[in-house]
Amino acid sequence: MSEIRSEATAPSNIALIKYMGKTSHESNRPTNPSLSYTLDHLITKVRLVAADKDGWAPLTEPGFEAIQLSEKGQLRYLNFLSKLKSHFGITECFRVESANNFPSDCGIASSASSFAALTKAVAALAKQGDHSPEALSKLSRQGSGSSCRSLFTPWAVWKDEAAEPVDLGIDRLIHVLVLGDDSVKLVSSSEAHKRVAQSPLFDGRVDRAIDRFDRLMVALREDQWKEAYQICWQEFWDMHALFETSPEPFGYMNANSLLILREAEAQWRSNGTGPIVTMDAGANVHLMYKDSQSGLVDEIVQRYQELGLRTVRSH
Ligand code: DP6
Repeated sequence: MSEIRSEATAPSNIALIKYMGKTSHESNRPTNPSLSYTLDHLITKVRLVAADKDGWAPLTEPGFEAIQLSEKGQLRYLNFLSKLKSHFGITECFRVESANNFPSDCGIASSASSFAALTKAVAALAKQGDHSPEALSKLSRQGSGSSCRSLFTPWAVWKDEAAEPVDLGIDRLIHVLVLGDDSVKLVSSSEAHKRVAQSPLFDGRVDRAIDRFDRLMVALREDQWKEAYQICWQEFWDMHALFETSPEPFGYMNANSLLILREAEAQWRSNGTGPIVTMDAGANVHLMYKDSQSGLVDEIVQRYQELGLRTVRSH
């Protein structure tokens, strides 16, 4: 049997203020600050096994589902492995095995958790270098930008080189992912970062993101839940508008996404409260509730079930 050299796990995260647009596409420097909530229940596990040359294979492990990585995806992952190895002065070769604890067909992006887990697995082998979460965040960012926020929980702020933890006085939220579509994305987020800069709406985007970032931090800290909901709502629509108004327009929303969004709005209308709502570069909708709103969670999950929509709930 081949020798297991290192293992690590890392969670996914969902941004409420989005990283969309880069000042450097090579090193994933963001145009604006982002704020994310860490999805501790959705994780990637990476195992490094001694090998003659670097390669990738799905990980078989109880409780985990093997990732299906395209050729392009494997190449990107292995290029990043090389970068990490040279950073830490490691010359050994590995078979990188990875899997998620969430189904691969459920449309949850796993790049944040998989790049963060790879960074941790390689760093764990290194005798030299800085192993602080900040240092690992900076490294992980170079593999995939959003992964730099997965080194911290429950909240992470990312402004420039690395993300950092931030205390917003909210330790836990109930996260409900509602699946709008499980098909493969036609435009990757890396490509989206390039195209949005050409949208006429990108003018002022950085100022809008900074303004929302500042206001959202206050709203969450001061428990102004409705204000937080409104800011997050405007933020994800802003990002999706950038997609749809770039010179080569593209988009991820479909009829299910709209149906899901309308139900969340209806909950706000009839109860005077509801979830924080956001969407990434995909058709899925993320809902976030406070623990005190668990009755509303049961209600909406049942409603989506009636509509034939799949949900994944944190607790
Ligand atoms: C829409 O981190 O996937 O999820 O740095 O090119 O790997 P690369 O992009 P990626 O972009 C994620 C964009 C987003 C918003 C966010 O997570 O902030």
